[in-house]
Amino acid sequence: MKTLIRAGVLACAMAAGVGASMQAAAQPPENIGAAVFNKKGSLLLPQGYRQWVFIGAPLTPHGLNNGKAGFPEFHHVYVNPDAFEVYQQTGVFPDGTVIVKELVLLQKGDYPDGSKLAPSGRGYFGGEFQGMDVMVKDSRRYASENGWGFFNFGHHAPPYMPSAKAAPAESCAGCHASNAGKDMVFKAYYPVLH
Ligand code: HEC
Repeated sequence: MKTLIRAGVLACAMAAGVGASMQAAAQPPENIGAAVFNKKGSLLLPQGYRQWVFIGAPLTPHGLNNGKAGFPEFHHVYVNPDAFEVYQQTGVFPDGTVIVKELVLLQKGDYPDGSKLAPSGRGYFGGEFQGMDVMVKDSRRYASENGWGFFNFGHHAPPYMPSAKAAPAESCAGCHASNAGKDMVFKAYYPVLH
């Protein structure tokens, strides 16, 4: 995997050297880090991500959003381990970083706010998997979106879509750029990234 990231960095450096015309003609689907693209340039559903580095689980439940949360599930967020290691050393996600956000439904609640009682207290507890969003860092391919491509694999129970096209900037990248800044990742919500 490390070799792949290095190969990606090298490929980028080479592409930068050969000029803009070559870049425009570049073949879309080479693989980069943990991201695998098909011939049409769509991202294949990431594999093995539940064994990656788990960086956090933001939660925006219906109970705190007038019953109308856009994403009422836990947002389980994973980063591919090679990229995480580079981030720890440099504070920057390298090309080849894949960030998976898997949605996890809350278990059925006992109270109007959706919370339930557990032996540990009243709160929210994870239930079934319910969808996936993915970000891929490739500063050449996604230059106009601060280097990140965004992909939605469905907002429903698995199986998720086997591949996904890059989402238009207005669907995803715009909000990340306006609110998370140039780095595009909402680092403030993940203590292990600090
Ligand atoms: C209205 C703003 C907004 C839009 C639109 C949006 N996001 Fe996000 N996204 C967020 C926020 C805020 C977080 C972190 C907090 C959370 O998960 O609730 C986040 C988190 C993420 C994460 C985890 C990494 C991180 O930066 O925290 C991924 C992956 C992600 N979004 C992908 C997508 C994809 C793919 C789309 C489009 C299909 C999308 N997002 C659209 C606001 C947005």
